[in-house]
Amino acid sequence: MPLLKLLHFMALIGWCGALLYLPALIAAGTRSSDALFYRDHAHLTRMVFNLVATPAALLAIGSGTALFLSGALFDAWLIVKLTTVTGMVVCHALCGVLILRIERLPEPSVGLECLLLGSLVAVLISATLWLVLAKPF
Ligand code: HEM
Repeated sequence: MPLLKLLHFMALIGWCGALLYLPALIAAGTRSSDALFYRDHAHLTRMVFNLVATPAALLAIGSGTALFLSGALFDAWLIVKLTTVTGMVVCHALCGVLILRIERLPEPSVGLECLLLGSLVAVLISATLWLVLAKPF
C-alpha cells in the first residue's frame, strides 16, 4: 500500500507537471517564423506529450484505481475527485488536439486557448489536491 501510494505520487508529479507545462510549450511553438525552429519545436512538444504526459497519466490513473480497489473506498470525496480527474483527462486530450492543430498550421491565435487551458488545468489540479487532502465530504 505505501509503495502503491508512492507510485501514485510519482506519476502525479509527472502528469500534473506535464499538463501545466504543455499549454505554454504549445503556445511558444507558434511564436517563430523560422521553419527549422518550428519543426524541432513541434517534435519536442509531441515528445513531451507522448513520452512524458501520457505514460504518467496512465500510471497515475492505474495506481489510483489500484489504491481505490485495495482500500475498498467509496467515500463522497473520492467520487467528486474522480469528476475533477475526468476534467484533467479532458484537458490532456485537448492538449493533444492543440498539438495536432499547430503541427498543421502554427497560428499564434492558439495562445489564448493555451492560456485558458493552462488556467483550467491549474484549477482542476488544485481542486483535486484539496479534495484528497482535506476530504471535505
Ligand atoms: C483515476 C484517477 C485517480 C484515482 C482512482 C485516485 C484514487 C486515490 C485513492 C483511492 C487514494 C487513497 C486515499 C486514502 O488512502 O485516503 C489516493 C490518494 C491520493 N491521490 Fe489519487 N487518485 C487518482 C488521481 C489523482 C490525481 C490526478 C491527483 C492530484 C492531482 C491525486 C492526488 C492524490 C493524493 C495527494 C493522495 C494522497 C492522499 C492521502 O494520503 O491523504 N490523485 N488517490
